Amino acid sequence: MLKLPSKGPLGYSVQADATNQKISRDKVISTDPPYYDNIGYADLSDFFYVWMRPALRDVYPSLFGTLAVPKQEELVATPHRHGGKVKAEDFFLNGMTKAISQLAENAHPTFPVTIYYAFKQSETKEENTSNKGWETFLTAVIESGFSIDGTWPIRSEQSSRMIGMGSNALASSVVLVCNKRESKLEPVSRRQFQRELRDEMPRALEIMIGGNGGVSPIAPVDLAQAAIGPGIAIFSKYRDVLESDGSSMTIHDALILINKSITEYLNPDSANFDSDTLFCDDWFSQYGWSAGSFGEADTLARAKGTSVDGVKEAGVIDSGAGKVRLLKWSEYPASWDPKTDDRTPVWEACHQMIRALNQHGETDAGALLARMPEQGEHIRQLAYHLYTLCERKKWAEEARAYNELIGSWHAIVAASQEAGERGSQSELGFDF
Ligand SMILES: C[S@@+](CC[C@H](N)C(=O)[O-])C[C@H]1O[C@@H](n2cnc3c(N)ncnc32)[C@H](O)[C@@H]1O
Repeated sequence: MLKLPSKGPLGYSVQADATNQKISRDKVISTDPPYYDNIGYADLSDFFYVWMRPALRDVYPSLFGTLAVPKQEELVATPHRHGGKVKAEDFFLNGMTKAISQLAENAHPTFPVTIYYAFKQSETKEENTSNKGWETFLTAVIESGFSIDGTWPIRSEQSSRMIGMGSNALASSVVLVCNKRESKLEPVSRRQFQRELRDEMPRALEIMIGGNGGVSPIAPVDLAQAAIGPGIAIFSKYRDVLESDGSSMTIHDALILINKSITEYLNPDSANFDSDTLFCDDWFSQYGWSAGSFGEADTLARAKGTSVDGVKEAGVIDSGAGKVRLLKWSEYPASWDPKTDDRTPVWEACHQMIRALNQHGETDAGALLARMPEQGEHIRQLAYHLYTLCERKKWAEEARAYNELIGSWHAIVAASQEAGERGSQSELGFDF
């Protein structure tokens, strides 16, 4: 067993370029590299540097030798510094690959290297380039000789931080758990990769969404990042994943397939939701909270195995004058009791939970859940699905409601258990 020292010098810092440093030799490494083009630390540092330099130049001559903070070595993909977007990306990829290769070569072999990364990976689509941050970074990590064996979100940023305000910004950083790869398995086909994703992703996602042993489930906003771990672990164990034309699959395409497996897992049709919920979900994705024609609603309801009257009876739509629209959670009645309602689609249960949480807080939402514990898992699954849908549609406000429901889930369940106990004790004749 290897023991970490509990005594000795408290720590020290030295300035070195990550692409050629040797400080990490035989160390346990946990590092927080720059996130692609997110923040130009060197530019920001100039603000302080000009004040510190006159006072400290004689004390730290080597650190304060230059007129301004050194910029060229900084590993950020800044187009203005490198002569355009493509060159900036090349610079980041090459520099980051060198920096991470240093870690892969030098780190203590017994321990995984943990790397913090907090770049939002939302939708990787065929044509867009908004996920260059993740793709380029993952490419650097894999090309450096690491396998990525986990990507776990942790709470590391305050929700009130500037970038997080008013948006569904990441509640956390993602920690990549990296081990030096000894050798790679033979190449496999795209089809085989997809098969392995289909076999392994549902179990991994179930753990993330379900929460585990009192651990909060992963926030919907973090799910895409968290799911990269198990997906890319499959990808990175092979020497190559071969496309049908014999070319190697890129990280970009691997991420598209990993994202697809999340969408498939959360697909309401495979989640065995009731017909009313399937209708609401489809209608929502077409109209949001706006009204559509009765005729279309009627056709859709039949296709989903229900009727507009039935869905109306369930209490989740408004229909009249040839129009149909979904009720917003804020329009749901506060007096609703699932125990006396004999038509409770998961859609209704989920939005009633959001209403209770937003209007009265976790204790009331917990009390409501205690009256329909059998719906809990479905509600959670629907909230993840609707979050993903709203994100894709860029309905940030709607997405936030689902993200917040899951964010409070742990506390809601605790409150529901307490309410459940109180309920059963009073049923036994105890008075509280
Ligand atoms: C995400 S920040 C780390 C923030 C830090 N964990 C904190 O909480 O203050 C990334 C850091 O990497 C530094 N950096 C960028 N390029 C570097 C390079 N080539 N060598 C060493 N450090 C570099 C940046 O100056 C910045 O301080």
